[in-house]
Amino acid sequence: MQQFEMRGADTLTQMPKLGRGVGRAHGKAILFGEHAVVYGAPAIAFPVNVLPVTVNATLTPAASTIESELYTGPLERAPRRLAPVVAAIRTALNMFAPKSGAKIAIYSDIPYERGLGSSAAVASAIVEAVAHAAGQDPNATELFDLTQVGERVAHGNPSGMDAHAVQSTQIFRYRKPNVEPIRVGGAFYFVIADTGVPGATREAVAGVAQRKAADPRVDAAIGELARVAEESVADFEDGDLAAIGAKMNRAHGLLRAIGVSSPELDHLVDTARRAGAMGAKLTGGGIGGCILALAPTLPEAERIAGVLRGAGAKGAWATWLEPID
Ligand code: PMV
Repeated sequence: MQQFEMRGADTLTQMPKLGRGVGRAHGKAILFGEHAVVYGAPAIAFPVNVLPVTVNATLTPAASTIESELYTGPLERAPRRLAPVVAAIRTALNMFAPKSGAKIAIYSDIPYERGLGSSAAVASAIVEAVAHAAGQDPNATELFDLTQVGERVAHGNPSGMDAHAVQSTQIFRYRKPNVEPIRVGGAFYFVIADTGVPGATREAVAGVAQRKAADPRVDAAIGELARVAEESVADFEDGDLAAIGAKMNRAHGLLRAIGVSSPELDHLVDTARRAGAMGAKLTGGGIGGCILALAPTLPEAERIAGVLRGAGAKGAWATWLEPID
């Protein structure tokens, strides 16, 4: 029988049953600063609570198994695309329950490979679920560090922004390695819409590096993207929707100019603007993935999401930021 390290009676209340634990995380979207952040600019990202992930972990003396939409079966035989998930499970078990295997069930609403933080959210929820199953409560640093192990397998050299965002409760400014929450002076309503085309962050980042070296206009556009990100902080503090919308439009133009948009992204951006969005842009690495649009109210965000679905978006979700002091 497995021995579990117990910290005290209070931990029992977190565990439905000894050896079982639940972990949760959510998606993320980048509002400003993608690509410029690679060259030292700040990026602005926020939690997308309407796209949650839940992981159930049950410790077992037998070999580990995974149950998910992509694959169900032994950990050992998981397909290559699940390598980040496998790494997260192994790392979490090593840290919190080294003598156990685990049955891991993953329920994720985040479409994968769309720049919405799916890999980081799943890794983070796995770490939390395994820790809880072992009667422990990981602190924020442990959660971040262990999530980054899975992220390194997924992305090579992750900035850490996703690993923060998928557990964050508020919008933040990220300049590696610092995270600063941003005050939000009014509610902001967004629509996220999926082109259905997988994002290609690595390829997009490599393409920008090449063009930047060859063309001073690309370098200038990256400088301008950095300025837009930096100046948006004051607009959030002021609750200035019109200013944020204008900056989103500006950022999309600049991201197009550096070569990371696509016909599908441009189509959804144009559709959102024609449907009444106050601004719209691609979000994340680009080439595929998602767009982000700003709406004046939640019903408007939901209406624009419907228009985007009708125009070919594979998924569209309304989400929002609450005012925070
Ligand atoms: O596609 P995402 O959400 O992983 O975002 C990539 C953001 C970039 O700035 C393009 C790359 C990076 O590592 O920050």
